[in-house]
Amino acid sequence: MERTYVMIKPDGVQRNLIGEIITRFERKGLKIVGLKMLQMDRAMAEKHYAEHTGKPFFEGLVSYITSGPVVAMVLEGKDVVATARAMNGATNPANAGPGTIRGDYAIEVGRNVIHASDSIDSANREIAIYFTESELCEYKKVLDDWIY
Ligand code: TYD
Ligand code: MG
Repeated sequence: MERTYVMIKPDGVQRNLIGEIITRFERKGLKIVGLKMLQMDRAMAEKHYAEHTGKPFFEGLVSYITSGPVVAMVLEGKDVVATARAMNGATNPANAGPGTIRGDYAIEVGRNVIHASDSIDSANREIAIYFTESELCEYKKVLDDWIY
């Protein structure tokens, strides 16, 4: 089954949105197979956002993402990469529709509450940054038979 990396950013944690956000993914029917809170350091931030190195917003992005703890998770489900991106909404909350996480909870592009991998390759790369194989759980849920 497809997996993606999703992360509640420091503003989401500070604004008490952890439960709200996790609930959305659970209710959708996506399976949480990895979950933890951690504080990113600069090296980790540079690795996660390597594709944005040198861009005008890069320094601000690194300082924001390292400004407090984040909640890291791995979600599993059919087409989960695209689904999590759609549930998050557009990068700039101004363009994120109502009903999306960014549309409902954010205003600034530099404070957009949530991350999700943009492709299966990115998901595999990002999952490996945050989780070891033994931290990911493969398990069956009774509800799976109702979701699929
Ligand atoms: P990006 O990977 O383009 O967006 P997404 O998070 O939707 O995959 O950019 C990474 C983060 O960088 C984005 O969530 C917010 C920040 N960012 C800015 O602050 N300004 C910008 O102009 C862009 C494009 C991104
Ligand atoms: Mg991205």
